[in-house]
Amino acid sequence: MSIINNLQDDSQNSPQKAKLNISKIKKFKGQKKITMITAYDALFAKIFDKNVDMILIGDSLNQSFAGENDTLNASLEQMIYHTKAVCNGAKNTFIICDLPFGTYNTKEQALESCIKIYKETKADAIKLEGGAFKADIIEYLVKNGIAIVGHIGLMPQSVRGEGGYKVRGKDEADIKQLHKDAKAVEDAGVFCLVVEGVKSEVAKQITQSIKIPTIGIGAGLDTDGQVLVWSDMLGFFEDFKPKFVRHYLSGASEVKKALQTYVKDVENEKFPSKDEQY
Ligand code: KIV
Repeated sequence: MSIINNLQDDSQNSPQKAKLNISKIKKFKGQKKITMITAYDALFAKIFDKNVDMILIGDSLNQSFAGENDTLNASLEQMIYHTKAVCNGAKNTFIICDLPFGTYNTKEQALESCIKIYKETKADAIKLEGGAFKADIIEYLVKNGIAIVGHIGLMPQSVRGEGGYKVRGKDEADIKQLHKDAKAVEDAGVFCLVVEGVKSEVAKQITQSIKIPTIGIGAGLDTDGQVLVWSDMLGFFEDFKPKFVRHYLSGASEVKKALQTYVKDVENEKFPSKDEQY
């Protein structure tokens, strides 16, 4: 595997990544693993900037930021608000904004939603959920100059219609459907494809069968890249831990420890010190 040089400078502790475009992202397939993380605000986006290939303003923000039970009542305005904030924080990273539920039911509505995102934010691309049944809409958007990321497999926007979050690719009929979906959205023009909640062997077959990169979440090791929701990855979301999530930090408990120390210091008149006052 030859490594494409995506390093801008190595003067800091971690390699700083140069901002990508869709041609470079497509070329990563089979060359290097692609990294994606979600972000919803400028503060975290700035920390993530240049340290990851792509940042996604996922409609998962409706759960992890707004505290709702699912993503379905996220609005386009909400996505635009958070995308503006992320773009302000991460000026050197490829940014993707999710289209929320109900904003891309027809070609015309989808294009109007995408144009609003492109006009009001600096997002580089737009992601939407759906397989073969959304191919016509994807083709129309791509023809009109929108860079589209696909999303197949477990699609959180279908949670109420499906009666829950269900791992995909467990039987022959579903495996066939997933292959059909991957091929249809590739043919329609997506430049990369999120594959969520799919049996790892099936995600591997899909990855091998299409020319565009796949980005897995709960889809095993053999996709072309990985994406995680930032609050899952950093251990801030404590309600439950899905099997596919790895905590790289115990964010919630670290924050609680720090907060308790601050509270104690204030109560014991240890904060502020002489050096911390005017
Ligand atoms: O909304 C989101 O954060 C997503 C990722 C989990 C892929 O779609």
